Amino acid sequence: MNCNFKGKIVLITGASSGIGAATALLFADHGSSLALTGRNQTNLEKVAKECKSKGAKDVLTIIADFVNLEDVKKVADETIKTFGKLDILVNNAGVVTDGNLEELTMENFDWQFQVNVKSMVYLTQLLMPELVKTKGNIVNVSSICSVCQYPGILIYNMTKSAVDQFTKTIALEYAPRGVRVNAVNPSSVQTELYRYKSDWNSETKEKVYEDKEKLHPIGRNGTAEEVANAILFFASESSAWTTGQCLLLDGGRCLAVK
Ligand SMILES: NC(=O)c1ccc[n+]([C@@H]2O[C@H](COP(=O)([O-])OP(=O)(O)OC[C@H]3O[C@@H](n4cnc5c(N)ncnc54)[C@H](OP(=O)(O)O)[C@@H]3O)[C@@H](O)[C@H]2O)c1
Repeated sequence: MNCNFKGKIVLITGASSGIGAATALLFADHGSSLALTGRNQTNLEKVAKECKSKGAKDVLTIIADFVNLEDVKKVADETIKTFGKLDILVNNAGVVTDGNLEELTMENFDWQFQVNVKSMVYLTQLLMPELVKTKGNIVNVSSICSVCQYPGILIYNMTKSAVDQFTKTIALEYAPRGVRVNAVNPSSVQTELYRYKSDWNSETKEKVYEDKEKLHPIGRNGTAEEVANAILFFASESSAWTTGQCLLLDGGRCLAVK
């Protein structure tokens, strides 16, 4: 596989935790320079330090809350100001909260769409001219929820369907200009994603993920590193002929329709 990322600038949103952190470490392993975003400064700096010790050339950390569009703009501006270019954009930051139609509030609807979709669209819009210059590429982190209907997380499902459409439509728009756009669509990966559940703690977290293991024909949940591997593949020259794909990473779960 052609995974030479030396000299490449990679921006990863939501790199302070879970899948984003694992992706940052994997790109660091391959010698990229990194711009990493998150809200939790302690966690973000810890990931940045690990990336440096793994071999990342330069690591820029940017504290940004994607509820604010000014913060999204700050991420784009600081990345280009620091590195002068961008090769790969990994749109990973995301949130989920419980809620069916009855429970839903419009504030919650706006919040999930803002973090999962609007900030992604805005950041991509701001940085696309830079990716056109470098003939770079984008990997969006979607979910199996974009194609499977899970009751109780209505708005999250909808945001991830929007991420898939965004991926495919801009893949078509920008293929002639040399920018590829793909998505990874994971099933369950043990992270802090469900942090907004009212009863979230280390015990309930173990229970939530234990219950999900059996939904996967392969017999287990995925790991953040397995998702990072797929992101790295899409970002690499090995997938140079691939664009507009939304890759299910689900241990066979969608085949079994559970
Ligand atoms: N874990 C799964 O089972 C799973 C399955 C399918 C898809 N995904 C997707 O994978 C992506 C990463 O999630 P994860 O599982 O790694 O969860 P995670 O551990 O909770 O990480 C989420 C990341 O997003 C950042 N983030 C959250 N709210 C933000 C906001 N308002 N502004 C800016 N950044 C924000 C977090 O930053 P701070 O921690 O610094 O606040 C963190 O770095 C998400 O898009 C999620 O939908 C996850």
